[in-house]
Amino acid sequence: MKNTHVLTVDPQQPEAALIRRAAKVLRAGGLVAFPTETVYGLGADALNAEAVRGIFLAKERPAYDPIIVHVTDVQGLERLVRSVPPPARTLVERFWPGPLTLVLPRASVVPDVVTAGGETVAVRAPSHPVAQALIRAAGVPIAAPSANRFGQLSPTRAEDVLADLEGRVDVVLDAGATPVGVESTVLSLVNETPTILRPGGLSREVLESVLGRVRLAERPVQPAEEPVTSPGTLPQHYAPRARLILYRGAPQAMLTTMREEALRRHTRGERVGLLLAAEDLPFFAGLPLILRAVAPADDLPAVARRLFATLRALDAAEVEVILARDFGTAGLGLAVRDRLTRAAGGHVIEVGKRET
Ligand code: TXA
Ligand code: MG
Repeated sequence: MKNTHVLTVDPQQPEAALIRRAAKVLRAGGLVAFPTETVYGLGADALNAEAVRGIFLAKERPAYDPIIVHVTDVQGLERLVRSVPPPARTLVERFWPGPLTLVLPRASVVPDVVTAGGETVAVRAPSHPVAQALIRAAGVPIAAPSANRFGQLSPTRAEDVLADLEGRVDVVLDAGATPVGVESTVLSLVNETPTILRPGGLSREVLESVLGRVRLAERPVQPAEEPVTSPGTLPQHYAPRARLILYRGAPQAMLTTMREEALRRHTRGERVGLLLAAEDLPFFAGLPLILRAVAPADDLPAVARRLFATLRALDAAEVEVILARDFGTAGLGLAVRDRLTRAAGGHVIEVGKRET
């Protein structure tokens, strides 16, 4: 067990002395959880293989899952990759710092443990002032996955980090809630066509406005090579404790189906939670259900920002099952759908179609 120190810092102008203290821990091979604009990261010196192994241990993350390296600028990227091709340079100029991670062939300084032995490395420059100050003060690139136990919901507040990792991390920099709320968009530039490996905080439309067509990689919800032997051990991701079912379809039909199913389950004695848009609440008012609205459905940045905290709130309300509505695929909706689909372990109801 580590003794976890929580340092409260100003999100806009982080106190230099506190940042220095955290940076020193990183340089000594320790683990520091810190806010980025997307979610909190669990950081270690990316060039120190032993320190990065500590991340995998703390998160109970399988060694086959590579980690994103955080830098402050294009020079930081140049040190970690074999070369920076023209499209990468354009993207960096337009979108860094920000929620865009680029995957490129790696340079030899990057330890195998960071890339999970692969020949590519994922790099991003976060825009959060605390993340930037920390990387600068440490003087090294910082390897950081989201600061949650593997498979759990990503943390958007310091208390979420502590719930998962207290005693496993040396320092938590607490700068309040993160402004984007879903993880970065991971874009591979390794092949001819740029490919989104994970939709995230920078939308596909915005990327396409710069790159032309961008491919969206299929993201299997379960690793295909692992047959499901026990439903209880499904490798779900971004998952709340409660079982989650995602509903998709035209809003009115989707909500009607959700209401019927929620009441059916309630009658069976289940404690049922609903993840809704703000404007859906009246349709469920007065029913014996646990209602949590994320935000208005047309305010997708707010939906993304509040998604994980709302799922945590439903867990805190000790519901057994969560029926979640979909928010479409425009803008940040795509990332929200991706996270909800994973939280559902693939249990998605297409209203108007048969169950998948
Ligand atoms: O917003 C974010 O990206 C946050 C903050 C902390 O920066 N980080 C984050 O890290 O979400 P993590 O480890 O939870 O997710 C990283 C994703 C994983 O899906 C991983 O498989 C993928 O990026 N990834 C990392 N390195 C890769 C590589 N070399 N090639 C392909 N995918 C990679
Ligand atoms: Mg993660």
